[in-house]
Amino acid sequence: MPPRPDLPPHPLPADKDLVLKVIPMPADVNANGDIFGGWVMAQVDLAGSVLPSRIGQRMVTVAVNEFIFKQPVRVGDILSFYSSVRRVGRTSVTVDVEVYAERFHDQGRFVKVTEALLTYVAIDSEGKPQALPENAQIMAWRQAIQRNAEAAAPTR
Ligand SMILES: CC(C)(COP(=O)(O)OP(=O)(O)OC[C@H]1O[C@@H](n2cnc3c(N)ncnc32)[C@H](O)[C@@H]1OP(=O)(O)O)[C@@H](O)C(=O)NCCC(=O)NCCS
Repeated sequence: MPPRPDLPPHPLPADKDLVLKVIPMPADVNANGDIFGGWVMAQVDLAGSVLPSRIGQRMVTVAVNEFIFKQPVRVGDILSFYSSVRRVGRTSVTVDVEVYAERFHDQGRFVKVTEALLTYVAIDSEGKPQALPENAQIMAWRQAIQRNAEAAAPTR
């Protein structure tokens, strides 16, 4: 896919955590010379697992609910992965991941290249879903989700 110079640089999200930074290498390219989408998906899965891992239980990826490749990724891009918790269920946590690229020759200017929504499930020693603990981390996420929902609700 050709680059889109018509798109403005994207501001970095202030309401998400920086969970991963990585630079793709020549071994990660596809036949077009851009970075292989499967490599990007693997990095997004790793990045998405960072916040759920703070619960302190064994977590597995159950679903990639949404995945959008908005712009190509190139060798040498400095990729920054930002994440936030979107939903806390009984046994699962859903997070979003946004990926921003600083082009090798244009550092300091960030372009959003990928966005995704992924769900992770807490499992027990037999691999069965396990209820999340009601600990301080879970309560903080629930409160943040509630605040965001109230802020997004239309006012009368
Ligand atoms: C994850 C796993 C233990 C879930 O088992 P299950 O019997 O399907 O679990 P359930 O139907 O009870 O669902 C468990 C949770 O996952 C959620 N879930 C299941 N499928 C989902 C989907 N497609 N999208 C979003 N959430 C989903 C459920 O809503 C539930 O969340 P909640 O308790 O917070 O409401 C099982 O599917 C599994 O082992 N999958 C393989 C995981 C893995 O190997 N991942 C790496 C892939 S390479």
